[in-house]
Amino acid sequence: MARRFFCKKRISKKKILITAGPTYEAIDPVRFIGNYSTGKMGFAIAEEAAQCGAEVILIAGPVQLKTVHPNITRIDVKSAHEMYETAIKHFPTCDGAILSAAVADFTPVTKYNIKIKEKQSLTIELKPNPDIAQELGKIKQKNQILAGFALETNDEFAHAQGKLERKNFDFIVLNSLADKGAGFGYDTNKVTIIKRNGETIPFGLKPKKEVAADIITAMKNCFAKK
Ligand code: CTP
Repeated sequence: MARRFFCKKRISKKKILITAGPTYEAIDPVRFIGNYSTGKMGFAIAEEAAQCGAEVILIAGPVQLKTVHPNITRIDVKSAHEMYETAIKHFPTCDGAILSAAVADFTPVTKYNIKIKEKQSLTIELKPNPDIAQELGKIKQKNQILAGFALETNDEFAHAQGKLERKNFDFIVLNSLADKGAGFGYDTNKVTIIKRNGETIPFGLKPKKEVAADIITAMKNCFAKK
């Protein structure tokens, strides 16, 4: 109860944009390029932010999850391009954003509108997708907070630090696939929050709901310092 009250005081009346889940990049009407993201982490963050009194815009890739809290406005998208268009449209009206989506970095150059029939071999040419985080980082205003994730398998800190600066994040949530019980599909996660001033906060393995609360606390602290 005390935590809820403290939490409400700091993030209520804020409007927070959250991206979650994978993106699907169509090859033809029945096939796509995707990834293993389930959206659980992003949806937990959306619920936590809403419970803390924030108004939430949740931009969700294709996932099998339901939203519960009435303060969450959910916008379902499929491709990285749709997610980009939606995020760019809504970010200027928000106080902050937490980008947890596992966005496909590439998309097929050609999207066939009829099913590709069996072939001996098939080469699919790919082109880069927009980097949603980097584009939001460019238009971020002084009073806005931008946070993202880094899911890494090696040289975790160096990669996360690079992304923090390149994408103009206020903080980044580092997820290492080297940690058991962390990453896609699990109900638990183990993260380290790295702030722009170099401060690093490691957390233990815990349910994604509790990780979401740690991330919202980090955002709340950033708002307090703006
Ligand atoms: N991100 C994004 N748009 C993209 C790619 C990534 O918004 N096209 C965001 C993710 O939601 C995450 C952060 O950027 O918050 C880092 O994503 P990640 O996939 O780890 O980084 P990339 O820049 O794609 O780098 P790489 O795949 O080379 O590790």
